[in-house]
Amino acid sequence: MNTNISWEAPSNIAIVKYWGKRAQQLPINPSFSFTLNNCKTKTSIQWEQRSGQDHLDFEFFYDGQRKPRFEYKLKTFFNHVEALYPAFKSVYLNIDSINSFPHSAGIASSASAMAALALCMMSIENDINGVVMQQDEFLNKASYLARLGSGSACRSVYPLAAAWGYSKTLAGSSDDYAVPLANQLHEEFKTIQDYIFIVSRAEKKVSSSAGHQLMENHPYRDARIQQAHENFNLLLPVLKTGDWTTFIKICETEALSLHGLMMSSNPSYILLEPESIHIINELKLFQQESKLPITFTIDAGPNIHVLFPLRIREEVDAWIQNCLSKYWEEEQIIFDGLQS
Ligand code: PMV
Repeated sequence: MNTNISWEAPSNIAIVKYWGKRAQQLPINPSFSFTLNNCKTKTSIQWEQRSGQDHLDFEFFYDGQRKPRFEYKLKTFFNHVEALYPAFKSVYLNIDSINSFPHSAGIASSASAMAALALCMMSIENDINGVVMQQDEFLNKASYLARLGSGSACRSVYPLAAAWGYSKTLAGSSDDYAVPLANQLHEEFKTIQDYIFIVSRAEKKVSSSAGHQLMENHPYRDARIQQAHENFNLLLPVLKTGDWTTFIKICETEALSLHGLMMSSNPSYILLEPESIHIINELKLFQQESKLPITFTIDAGPNIHVLFPLRIREEVDAWIQNCLSKYWEEEQIIFDGLQS
């Protein structure tokens, strides 16, 4: 084998959600996410150039075990890579990935996995061509590649926070790649905690890809695009001022709208479980009674992400022990937050 390249990339949690796409994983609306710290994928690739080979060849292993099911999914991604970087046609990759979070935790791993893989691919590309890119350019290209693998993965390339999708209110924003927003964050959001309540460990009933597709002829498509733009525009100044009241409104409207869109698709479907609603109801009670800056969001699944600044952790821990002790005891919470 020629060389060994290794990268880690975290998962991310969207506040303004990407939901619905055009060809080549281009989003129909701008999105924003925080990049997490503990839920990560580490990918190592041993690679070599092989003479006489006219298509990129690879094998994929998860923690040392060959996974043909993933190889099938990755084939499409590598077709994009080859089209962009023809030098990869003569390359063989031996890929080994591992997640820091349990495989069956119901946490989407595609964002961290595709971001880590895209970063590896850019390192290999630089090695093949003997170039050393500036970090900005390197991450920008990795974000572009990650997007081709899994839309939201393009945001995971950047620490702390990133936006993806063109918005006229954010200079430099693009549908093609994410842009870093770490330097736009108020201290309140730099210490944001994400307690992920694992409601179900089962594989999703309807995949995100199918969900994105259902937005094509969705009766609320235009209204959704407008709503996402409005929330995105509202969020940008909030990130700088640390205004929790508006942040909470945006966060919860986005989370529930995402699931509302699923429920109003054709065919319609529900990913939330009774336990998801139970946690949200308890959280809303706690939020209203305590007046503390705490909120929730939800990905395309039943798990609930509880968000709050580090400074109120003791109060939040006490609330969980009092009102949601089932989760506390059964260790069904993944404790995450931003990179400190
Ligand atoms: O990147 P995908 O295709 O897994 O879609 C992600 C969709 C959401 O997680 C629901 C929203 C988002 O912006 O991350």
